[in-house]
Amino acid sequence: MSFLNRDVVSIRDFSRPDLDKILDTATKISKSGYDKGLLKGKRVGLLFYEPSTRTRMSFDTAAQAIGADTIWFAGVEGTSVMKGETLKDTIETVANYVDTIVMRHPYDGSARWAAEVTSRRVQRGEKKVPIINGGDGKNEHPTQTMLDLYSILATQKRLDGLNIALVGDLKYGRTVHSLSYALSMYGCRLFFVAPEMLQIPHHITSFLEKRGISYTKHTKIEEAIEAADIVYMTRIQKERFPDENEYNKVKGLYKVDRSLLKRAKHTMRLMHPLPRVDEISVDADDDVRAYYFQQAGNGVPVRAALLGLIMGTIA
Ligand code: CP
Repeated sequence: MSFLNRDVVSIRDFSRPDLDKILDTATKISKSGYDKGLLKGKRVGLLFYEPSTRTRMSFDTAAQAIGADTIWFAGVEGTSVMKGETLKDTIETVANYVDTIVMRHPYDGSARWAAEVTSRRVQRGEKKVPIINGGDGKNEHPTQTMLDLYSILATQKRLDGLNIALVGDLKYGRTVHSLSYALSMYGCRLFFVAPEMLQIPHHITSFLEKRGISYTKHTKIEEAIEAADIVYMTRIQKERFPDENEYNKVKGLYKVDRSLLKRAKHTMRLMHPLPRVDEISVDADDDVRAYYFQQAGNGVPVRAALLGLIMGTIA
């Protein structure tokens, strides 16, 4: 399927060849450098209704590195959302100013709705402005998954058949939802490590079962760390708990430190979408297996590749 003007709403909208193409393009960009002429004359809108450091700044960096201009808001303070403007009206408006919109929003399904809004514009004879989901509520974060796959490939030299432990808040953590879907395309074995109340949602395990993917559930990280090729830590998402008392029951439950890392394979890589709170001790940062900051850096070539493919300047 062509990438031109394609929305990036769910990782499930992408086939394995699609994902391989993005990873291959990102690898080429990383090796050859950024061509400022690729998106010359194009503009990317970054609409961040929720806080972000990495997603917004790496998209901004990637877009500018290949020649695009960017316009953005970070938080709704200072925008007309404060006056009651709907998501539809903001998207309808910003679509007049830009060629692609990257959006983060607190509501599950908001990116799908925004993509529908810009598709309706096409029916009215206006140009399509693709929507890239930079995280919608607790649902998905597909471009994080693209850079996660790139990071796994960079460190393990393959994606197929790996043992991947996903640890922490698997209920509210959108990155692990998208990543689980994607890893099912590569026949990985998944270890879901979480307290019962934060385990991976049923709709995801049901999807994995239909695909014949092997997975196990655990409450202790020690049950998975020795077999894992990748340990993917996540933050307990305090802001998504309806009741703070429930958060207090599970906060601080998992912590990877230098001592625990001694039990892992030397080739294992410790990843985290970041930000971290306390689930990875700072004393682990200098361990050869710690990869989370390089992982965040990989967002730039991956997002540059995606923008170039979607905006039609990379074939
Ligand atoms: N990984 C990630 O989404 O980080 P930010 O929230 O800082 O964008």
